[in-house]
Amino acid sequence: MEIVKVNTGVPYEVLIGAGLLDRAGELTGEAVSGRRVMILSDDRVAPLYLERTEEAFRRAGFAAAHFVFPAGEAHKTLATVERALEAAEKAGLTRSDLFAALGGGLTGDITGLAAALFLRGVDFVQIPTTLLAMVDASVGGKTAVNLRQGKNLCGAFHQPRRVLCDPETLRTLPREVYAEGMAEVIKHGALGGEELLDRIVHGEPLENLIADNVRLKSGIVSLDERESGLRQKLNLGHTFGHGVEKLTGFSIYHGEGVSIGLMIAAFAAEHHGLCRPGVWKELRGMLTREGLPVTTCFSAAEIAGAARNDKKRRGDRITLVLPESRGQSRLYPLAVSELDEFIACCDGTVTGIKEE
Ligand SMILES: NC(=O)c1ccc[n+]([C@@H]2O[C@H](COP(=O)([O-])OP(=O)(O)OC[C@H]3O[C@@H](n4cnc5c(N)ncnc54)[C@H](O)[C@@H]3O)[C@@H](O)[C@H]2O)c1
Ligand SMILES: [Zn+2]
Repeated sequence: MEIVKVNTGVPYEVLIGAGLLDRAGELTGEAVSGRRVMILSDDRVAPLYLERTEEAFRRAGFAAAHFVFPAGEAHKTLATVERALEAAEKAGLTRSDLFAALGGGLTGDITGLAAALFLRGVDFVQIPTTLLAMVDASVGGKTAVNLRQGKNLCGAFHQPRRVLCDPETLRTLPREVYAEGMAEVIKHGALGGEELLDRIVHGEPLENLIADNVRLKSGIVSLDERESGLRQKLNLGHTFGHGVEKLTGFSIYHGEGVSIGLMIAAFAAEHHGLCRPGVWKELRGMLTREGLPVTTCFSAAEIAGAARNDKKRRGDRITLVLPESRGQSRLYPLAVSELDEFIACCDGTVTGIKEE
């Protein structure tokens, strides 16, 4: 088992190892004082893992109840959170009890927010079951739901007490959902130093791959819990990726958007002499091997237009994250009015590719 410490205000550990799911109760019991748990899960994950998880909690002396909601972004809403809170109240949860998120990043977001709100805040643990949730969403304490106007517009910072990653649960993951996680892993490779990048390129056992990525994210989050500077680097590929997601009406996977966004950032950076040559090509090879898209039919102008409205933008400037050499990326503030021109070079290579 690998253990990664996350040094946020209230520190916690991420445990990674095969078979952890069946030890969820015992390992949670070490980190919290409450003995009543409300497990949240969506209706795809619940049939696969809920019974085993509840059983694991009961074996460790917990009173366990559950709340299952429909899978999909359309249900990542305050309405779902409200129903979860009511279920928790009905199950008799008190201030000292806890929630557990069993599922992907979506379940983690809903559960974290429910835990932040219930009785003005109770503990929660994360049991992520997607690669994306393990390497990205379950670390950092960001929780949110969607509003009609956009994704993740309503949320809170609330750190989990523990995160339990059992790589065996990834076996049931659809290939495209697994690839989404790899998009974030490759993004980490592009900003987390050459050593990490090399380990990702050469391939390593899943447990180590997850631990490496959690270590990187937790290192950054520990230094910048509330996303003022350094943590912005994790947005690499996301400004343009989000633009592409928006243009498709969010019909592509988030990881697919990130993959294309990473390609735009890397290609434009190389074109403007801000990045060593070869970085774009290597990243493109890595993404392609995972079956992720590296081009899009949308033009640079369309993507710049969609990215202009990014919520991460401050005033009339936008902070891009750009690769600068193997394993290194930097923050690059740019006037919003220059965005269009900055990525126009991508047309014909990454963007505006019609024969898809
Ligand atoms: N809080 C954060 O820091 C953060 C970071 C990144 C993403 N997110 C959020 O996470 C969500 C995306 O995460 P995700 O990709 O994990 O999405 P998800 O939770 O929707 O999971 C994707 C799909 O896989 C299914 N699934 C999950 N685990 C499974 C398993 N082991 N076997 C079979 N099927 C399984 C789910 O039911 C779902 O249909 C988005 O809502 C995003 O906004 C949050
Ligand atoms: Zn992402």
